[in-house]
Amino acid sequence: MQTAIGEAQWRAISTQDTEELATLIASWAKPGTLLALDGDLGAGKTAFSQFFAKAIGVQGIVNSPTFTIIKEYEGAEMPFYHMDVYRVSLEEADELGLDEYFYGSGVTIVEWASLIEELLPEERLELYLEHTGGEERLIRLKGIGETYAGWCQSLNDREVGKQNG
Ligand SMILES: Nc1ncnc2c1ncn2[C@@H]1O[C@H](COP(=O)(O)OP(=O)(O)OP(=O)(O)O)[C@@H](O)[C@H]1O
Ligand SMILES: [Mg+2]
Repeated sequence: MQTAIGEAQWRAISTQDTEELATLIASWAKPGTLLALDGDLGAGKTAFSQFFAKAIGVQGIVNSPTFTIIKEYEGAEMPFYHMDVYRVSLEEADELGLDEYFYGSGVTIVEWASLIEELLPEERLELYLEHTGGEERLIRLKGIGETYAGWCQSLNDREVGKQNG
């Protein structure tokens, strides 16, 4: 069977719009959810992760995991695993035993996920964040697998709803 693929775009005019997207996706997240984030330095990967963490009920401060690589938090209903693989080689990443997180009881966000693409489960939601000036960001989403393709469809339906309403 062929893997379902979905695509969507989200234009953020300000950080609030990025928070709106993170909050929406957080409402759909469940144990095993994987968000693969990419985009330039300062594009907003950590900011998105912080909004997401807040939305799933993580208390306290979520820092950039650039130096710690993996940080674990308790959300209201499940753990949140926050990773930044910018500074690890593929070999090092392979030894971290990431599958325990990906297939664990929590939800995972990986910053710079494309660097370890071959270690990622096939089914995931990819988000590419792009600076388009000031606080504006273009967030391109690709959902791989039925669930995530469906999320992209929901985002697209929502955009249509916005225009009609
Ligand atoms: N629309 C927006 N969405 C997200 N962040 C925004 C937006 N507008 C401005 N910002 C700001 O841009 C910065 C993004 O930094 P952040 O650390 O999240 O980037 P990053 O992609 O994680 O970078 P790095 O690759 O260094 O980890 C933050 O200071 C954030 O407040
Ligand atoms: Mg970051």
